[in-house]
Amino acid sequence: MTHPASAPTQDWQPARYTEQASFVPALARDLVSWLRPRTGERVLDLGCGTGVLTAEIAAAGATVVGVDASPAMVEAARAAGIDAHVAQAETLPFDDEFDAVFSNAMLHWTRDIDAVLRGAHRALHEDGRFVAELGGTGNIAAIIGAARNVLDAYGVALPAAPWYFPSLDEMSDALRRAGFHVEQIVLFGRPTPLPGGIVEWLETFGGPLLQRLTPERRVAIAHAIEARLAPTHRGADGVWVADYVRLRFIARRG
Ligand code: BEZ
Repeated sequence: MTHPASAPTQDWQPARYTEQASFVPALARDLVSWLRPRTGERVLDLGCGTGVLTAEIAAAGATVVGVDASPAMVEAARAAGIDAHVAQAETLPFDDEFDAVFSNAMLHWTRDIDAVLRGAHRALHEDGRFVAELGGTGNIAAIIGAARNVLDAYGVALPAAPWYFPSLDEMSDALRRAGFHVEQIVLFGRPTPLPGGIVEWLETFGGPLLQRLTPERRVAIAHAIEARLAPTHRGADGVWVADYVRLRFIARRG
């Protein structure tokens, strides 16, 4: 699932995550089918979060190790019976140990994609596979645009690159630089119904947009962003839908 192997700007809280972000593993269940885990394989789940998809991979018969940068998320994953450890994605401590590396919704949090991909490559046995999903180019463009407008009005600059949302070419080039062969790579829009509003989404995920603000300003700015998006992102039924774009790939260690 998610998680910031490197996201000092986001405070991850397992209870809030389960309440506001269960769609993250739920909508990526078929990424496990892309992985096709087999009995006896060793799989690394990079950014395991609370361990929902990690458990699904284990249920397929693989031995799974989860890593996440958030101690709170690792504790929650362990409570769910996952073999989980705190680790930064940019400095993975594995060498030739896994048949596959799996990652859902974590890679876009990194500030150094090359370091993460090199570590994933190093963690794999020769011919091992890396199967991952992250936000792709255009992901949450409307949310970022609304945040830019509101922050401008408050005289606050939006961070230059709050997340890493690559194009197909950028992701493919990064994988090749790390030594992978790209077998499959796709970019697709996935409008995503949210369990709460944009204010709750921003609390759960929006750390990079709202960093270095006082708590009062954060709340005021989050409500102003939500108000801007209401005409286009809240349906007649009251359900908010975020403009997610996903990038998925299967890459093989050369
Ligand atoms: C995503 O999963 O697409 C995402 C998560 C957090 C912030 C932005 C996007």
